[in-house]
Amino acid sequence: MGKEITNYDDSKSLRIRKTENKNIFRHRVNFNKEIISSLLNIKDKKKNWKDLKILDVGCGYGDFPQYLHEQDSSWKIWGIDISKGMIDEAKKSTDQSIKYAVADTQKLPFKDRSFDVLVAKHMVYHIDDIRKGLNEMHRVLKDDGILIITLNSLANGSRANIERYLKEMEKVLNAKRIQTITKANMENFFQYVDKSQFKILEIRTYFNYGEIENSGLLKSYLESYRDFFSPKPTPEKWGKALFEIDKRIAAEIKKRGKIDEVRGLGIIKLQKIIN
Ligand SMILES: C[S@@+](CC[C@H](N)C(=O)[O-])C[C@H]1O[C@@H](n2cnc3c(N)ncnc32)[C@H](O)[C@@H]1O
Repeated sequence: MGKEITNYDDSKSLRIRKTENKNIFRHRVNFNKEIISSLLNIKDKKKNWKDLKILDVGCGYGDFPQYLHEQDSSWKIWGIDISKGMIDEAKKSTDQSIKYAVADTQKLPFKDRSFDVLVAKHMVYHIDDIRKGLNEMHRVLKDDGILIITLNSLANGSRANIERYLKEMEKVLNAKRIQTITKANMENFFQYVDKSQFKILEIRTYFNYGEIENSGLLKSYLESYRDFFSPKPTPEKWGKALFEIDKRIAAEIKKRGKIDEVRGLGIIKLQKIIN
């Protein structure tokens, strides 16, 4: 992750984005449930799903490790994240059996063939060198192990209005936003996958839908992106920009009644090829 992104020093912005995602996209899939369904939907000889050793890579404040623990308490769960602040929060707020470490995906602190399953949920696009990250994930997976990657999709006009307003903010702030969604998404991710390392087992794409009738909702979502702008806006500049964008969103809602938004996201299930 580029050193300039401070958005994940603690969980505040990520929590806001998750909450506002739920508030905006009211017609949505239960994504965590889909991840488990993809993981366990393996039509192979692996019949015993007990005692799996699972690593959540870029686990944030630990909500998904906790969810995994709640699915099957026989699973041995690990979480790593590059942010010490996130890991400190995860340790405090999740089950004591879950183990955590501060680490970069490009240099995982585990021996070869340590895990049955790895999950990298909405984080691959933050890795400086994605291929290097995938090599490491391949290394720590057991033979035939499963890697679940989740990403955003840009298909079907996904996030069109959110991206449009973030672009408007770039102009108002005279700053560039650090691009993550274009670096890796459901459409372009496969360019990073070495086909001699991983077999593609399954691809699932979902589209959530929401109607924005209240400008405050979108404003709050956009607000959580502050640390993604470079140079980082001063509080004064940021306040003015938000005020300006909020006015424009309110005017659009007044004119059209609401703003329709689609959000695409997906799951890619890979299996380690033994070499
Ligand atoms: C969008 S958040 C997703 C967090 C969590 N996986 C989730 O789905 O809620 C991205 C996370 O990846 C972490 N991260 C960024 N670059 C990383 C890297 N190279 N290695 C490990 N974690 C990284 C960030 O600190 C942040 O917690």
